[in-house]
Amino acid sequence: MGKKDPPVPASGRTSAGSRDRSAPNSMWGGRFTGAPDALMEGINASIGFDKALHAQDIAGSRAHAEMLAAAGILPAEDAAAICDGLDRIAAEIAAGEFDFRTELEDIHMNIEARLGELIGGAAGRLHTARSRNDQVATDLRLWLRDAIDGCDAALAALQSTLIDKAEAHADWVMPGFTHLQAAQPVTVGHHMLAYVEMFGRDRGRLADARKRLNESPLGAGALAGTSFAIDREATASALGFDRPTANSLDSVSDRDFVLEFLAAATICAGHLSRLGEELVIWSSAQFGFARLSDAFSTGSSMMPQKRNPDAAELIRGKSGRILGAFVTVFTVMKGLPLAYSKDMQEDKEPVFDAAETLAVCLQVAAAMVADLSFDRERLSAAAGAGNTVATDLADWLVREGGVPFRESHAIAGRAVALAEAKGCGLGDLPLEDLRTIDDRITEGVFDVLTVDRSVTSRTSHGGTAPDNVRAQAAAARERFL
Ligand code: ARG
Repeated sequence: MGKKDPPVPASGRTSAGSRDRSAPNSMWGGRFTGAPDALMEGINASIGFDKALHAQDIAGSRAHAEMLAAAGILPAEDAAAICDGLDRIAAEIAAGEFDFRTELEDIHMNIEARLGELIGGAAGRLHTARSRNDQVATDLRLWLRDAIDGCDAALAALQSTLIDKAEAHADWVMPGFTHLQAAQPVTVGHHMLAYVEMFGRDRGRLADARKRLNESPLGAGALAGTSFAIDREATASALGFDRPTANSLDSVSDRDFVLEFLAAATICAGHLSRLGEELVIWSSAQFGFARLSDAFSTGSSMMPQKRNPDAAELIRGKSGRILGAFVTVFTVMKGLPLAYSKDMQEDKEPVFDAAETLAVCLQVAAAMVADLSFDRERLSAAAGAGNTVATDLADWLVREGGVPFRESHAIAGRAVALAEAKGCGLGDLPLEDLRTIDDRITEGVFDVLTVDRSVTSRTSHGGTAPDNVRAQAAAARERFL
């Protein structure tokens, strides 16, 4: 422990092993004569995980004490002693010297109890006009605000890596799929930029959630507000909130901000999962579109030939965990009457886990994308396989022959059937064969029946043409980075 004797010894403040197990809790035991059962203490305690809120709790307490002093509710010297004590606690935590105690339930009571040990009586004035209910809501909002900022930075880094890849592969062709059936040729750059859009929307959702969460519940008290003339604007602005929350009941019972984050995180995890799935498919021997280096592959303990894309699979798999966090918190919240209920303590582990999981996945995804090397030849061969230029034939008939698209679609379909019967590609069919299907087809059709022509022709807004990709990559840099 390495700490001095407490200046204000109190029951329930001794360490778990030596304390008097028959004494009521010192923070709220006034109307109690007995101590909690050990089982009660076990299920009740959140310190094991909510100690992650220590920095936010200290910041909130400092803002509250300073506000109380400025409002004349707390003597200035007490506020000074409190802030000094809070600094010392922060230093103890940073040095790993703080004794987190289960019998003190949570981070709020642990810090307040230690403050009492360090500065004595003034510590008992800190909780004026405050409850753990508004305290925990404030701490969690502050924590989540930082977590969102971290995710945003990680998403921007991932976008930047994808944009680099897109530029480097602006004119590399690959098959585009629908139903995982070869559909039309696209460029690798275009495919990379599709993810840049997804992650851009994820950032938008997180930013939107951040905007709404950035209101201060501090001063809502237990649920009804307080009779003290507190200045909620002052604590809000000291903590970087845009404004105080409007309704004290809502302030302590709301966890929308957790759910919004988790919903946005789940959608983002879904995008990462799809990316992971593509990396798995692309790096298989059957596709062979791309290769992850040794740094992002694992071997098999039995099969010497294996190169497994474990990290991509884990990114795919961890999306389940993040959705699980959303489902957990939603289920905890949906039946609760106003205002606070202890059920709400169950919000923290899922949200902490989801935020950490998402942060790791975003980092790994960026590193894997950077690591990825594409096989240009295999991609190019695959891009043309399966007569992916059939739409180009139909479009050519519309453009050059004035044929209605429904009709040209049928003609191209017959040409595909003929090519399949002959075991060749559309572009390899002799002109005479094509003209037996429709005599409006002329020599000029062969200009459009190549993969390269197909992609370069798709210059419509948002289309896959290499020049589009280059312009879109530059635009994405402007929009997102
Ligand atoms: N540890 C509690 C939580 O995480 C803090 C709030 C406790 N409030 C109460 N009235 N018991 O929700």
